[in-house]
Amino acid sequence: MSTRTVSLRQDGDIAVVTVNNPPVNTITAAVRADLRQALEQIRAISGIKAVLLRCDGSTFFSGADIGEFSGPPREEEYRELFNGWENLPIPVVVAMHGTVMGGGLEIALAGHYRVAAPGTRFGMPEVTLGIIPGAGGTQRMPRLIGVEKALDFILSARPVDTSQAQTIGFLDAVIDGDLQAGAIEYTRDLLAAGRGPRRTGEMAVDAATATAEIIARMKDEARKKYPNRNAGLVAVEAVSASAQLSLKDGLELETRLVNGCKQTDESRGAVYAFFAERETRRIPGLADASSRPIKSAAVIGAGTMGSGIAICFANAGIPVTLLDSTQEALDRGLKGLDKTYAGLVQRGRLTVEEKAQRLGLIRGSLAYEDLRDADVIIEAVFENMDLKRKIFSTLDKLAKPGAVLATNTSTLDIDVIAAATSRPEDVIGMHFFSPANVMPLLEVVRTAKTSPGTIRTVMDLSKPLRKTPVLAKVCYGFIGNRMMEGYAREAERIVLEGATPRQVDTALEEWGMAMGILSVFDMAGIDVGVNVHTANASQYPPDPTYYQADFALHEAGRLGQKTGKGYYRYEAGNRTRFDDPDAIAILRARAAKLGIEQRQHTSQEIVERCLYPLLNEGIRILEEGVALRASDVDVVWIAGYGFPRYRGGPLLYADTITLERLRDGILKYQKQFGPMHWQPAALLDQLVREGKTIAQWQAERT
Ligand code: NAI
Repeated sequence: MSTRTVSLRQDGDIAVVTVNNPPVNTITAAVRADLRQALEQIRAISGIKAVLLRCDGSTFFSGADIGEFSGPPREEEYRELFNGWENLPIPVVVAMHGTVMGGGLEIALAGHYRVAAPGTRFGMPEVTLGIIPGAGGTQRMPRLIGVEKALDFILSARPVDTSQAQTIGFLDAVIDGDLQAGAIEYTRDLLAAGRGPRRTGEMAVDAATATAEIIARMKDEARKKYPNRNAGLVAVEAVSASAQLSLKDGLELETRLVNGCKQTDESRGAVYAFFAERETRRIPGLADASSRPIKSAAVIGAGTMGSGIAICFANAGIPVTLLDSTQEALDRGLKGLDKTYAGLVQRGRLTVEEKAQRLGLIRGSLAYEDLRDADVIIEAVFENMDLKRKIFSTLDKLAKPGAVLATNTSTLDIDVIAAATSRPEDVIGMHFFSPANVMPLLEVVRTAKTSPGTIRTVMDLSKPLRKTPVLAKVCYGFIGNRMMEGYAREAERIVLEGATPRQVDTALEEWGMAMGILSVFDMAGIDVGVNVHTANASQYPPDPTYYQADFALHEAGRLGQKTGKGYYRYEAGNRTRFDDPDAIAILRARAAKLGIEQRQHTSQEIVERCLYPLLNEGIRILEEGVALRASDVDVVWIAGYGFPRYRGGPLLYADTITLERLRDGILKYQKQFGPMHWQPAALLDQLVREGKTIAQWQAERT
C-alpha cells in the first residue's frame, strides 16, 4: 500500500510503515488519514507478526500541526487513531530519529516498544504554547514513568537526549548504525523472545509517584515556573488524574482540559508568537531578488558587540576576520572570545575540539587589506558618525563588488552612513542585541537605497547565524529601542516620584517582563544609557526630568553591575540585587532638585505608565511603515527585550486589553502629566473610532 504520505511494505512477517511528509513529518490531517488507512491494511493482512513505525527524512514526527490549533478540536481524532495503533494485537515498535516533539512523542507512547537513533531528541513543549499534551501524553507518559517524572518532563518543556530518555524510562533502546535495519532486527529479537504487545494504556500508574505531597510540590513548581499562566497547573491536574482514572476516562479528561486551554489568552498569545517568528522572513517585493552566497565575513571593532558577532559567524562555520584599530583592543577582544568559549566548554555545552575548531575560524587583524575577500562586512566600532562614515568610505574602495556592507549602529542614520560610499545599495543595518552571541533578535535595517538583493542576503544569512531577523526602516531607535524610549522614561520618572527601584522592577516582572527595566540598565551599564542620551539630546522632547535618574546615578559613579552599584547594590561575583539606601537617597535628592513631588504608586500604575507608551509607539511604528507588520513589532519585543511570549508581544497585548482601554489610559495620564509624552498615536485614535483591532487593520493590508 502507498498513499500520499504513508507507505506500507512487508519485511518477512514484519509490516514496515514509513511516513514521509517533508520537511519535518508534521502530523497533518493527510498524515492522520493515511495512518488510519495503513492501520486498516495491517489489520487485514494475515500472517503479520509485528509492526514497525518509522519516518523518512530528517526526523520522526516533529509534532502536531500547530496551524490546526485555531480550528475545530482534533483531539478525538488523534485519540482514536493512537488508540487504534495501541490496540493492535501484535507488537508495535516505533523507531525514532531527529527531533520528536509533542504529538510526535505521543504517537510513540501509543506504540509498544520504542527505539531511537543516537542524537534523537524528545520533548513535550506544549505548556510553552499555553496548552497541555492533548493526544494522550498526559495519560500515557505517567503510565510509563510515573506521575512525578512525567510532570518534571512536561513542566520543564525542555527536550532530552536518548540517554536521558532511557534513564527517565520511555525509551527502550538506542540503535547504532542504520536505524531501519537495526529496528527490524530489534523487532525480530522481540518475536524470537516471545514478546507480545505491551500496551502503555494497560499499565497502572505507580501510586507512589502520585502522593498528595508530590502533587502539591508540582503545583508549586508550575506556579513558580509559569507565573501568570495556567497551562502548567492544568498539566498537573491532567497528569495526576492518570493515577485514578482508566485510560479512557483519563483521555476524555485530557481532551476537555486541552480544549479549555486553547480558549485562553495565554495560548492565543503563545501560538501567535510561534507563527509571528516564522513570518518575519516573508518580505513582499523580494520575489525576484536573489541571495548572494556568504562564505566569509569580517567584523570591524573587537569590542562588546564585534566579538559577539564574530562568535555568531564562527558558530555558523563561516570564517570571520575580526579587525580593530590597535593591537591592545584586538587582543582584548580575542581574549574575550576565548573566555566565552571556555565558559561553554566548562558548562558542557561545547567540547574542547569544537572550541578549537570555532576559534580557528576567527582571525584577528589590524589591516583593512584583510577584508578584501569578505562577502559581508559588519562594522561595530564606537557610536560616532564621522568614524563610521570614514570606515564606510574605506570599505567602498576595498570591499569586493557585491559585498554586503553592514553597520551595527543603534542610533545613527544609516542613510547618511551609506552616502559615504558609492554603493549605497549594498549598505544595510544589522542591529544585533547584547550579548550578540546569545540574543536571538537581529533588526535588519533597510535604507532608502538598500537593494532587494542585499535585504534577501541578510535575511537568509540570519538562518545560519541562528537569529530571528525583523526588517525595519531607518528611524531613530529602529523598532525596539524606539519603543523602549517611553517605557524606560516612565520607569525612571516613577523612581524620581518616590517608588523604589525594586517596586518598579517587581511590578514589571510580576506582569511578565523577563527582567525589570532598571535591573536591565544596571546590567547593560548606566554609562551606556547616559552616553546615548547625551549624544542624542536633540532627538528627545524638552523635559527637564528626562532620564534624570540615570544621570544622577552616573554622576555618583554608580554605573551598574560592573561597579557593584547602580539602581541596586551588588556583591562581587554575584548578580543578586540588594536594595541600596544610598541609591534611593541619590534619587530622592535629584527629585528634590527637580521639584518632583513624592508619592505612593500602585503596581497597576507602574505597569500602565511603562507599557502604554511602549504600545503607543509600536502603533506609530506601524502607522509609519517602519515595520512591515504588527507581528514583526511583537517579535522584536519577544526576541530582544524579554516581553512575555504568552502575551504575544506588545501589539497583540494592545488588542487583548482593547485599544479603547489603551487610548483612554493614555488620555488619563495626559491629564495628569500633560501632553508632551502622552498623546495617542493617530492610528490608535482612528482604530478606536472605527471599532477595529490592530489585527483587523493588519488583515486588511495583507
Ligand atoms: P565597544 O566600545 O565595546 O567596542 C568598539 C570597538 O571598536 C573597540 O574595540 C574599539 O577599539 C574599536 N574601534 C574603534 N575605532 C576603530 C576603527 N577605526 N577601526 C577598527 N576598530 C575600531 O562598543 P560596542 O558596545 O561593542 O558598540 C559597537 C557598536 O555597536 C556601536 O555602534 C553601538 O551603538 C552598537 N551597539 C551596541 C550595543 C551594546 O549593547 N553595547 C547593542 C547594539 C548595538
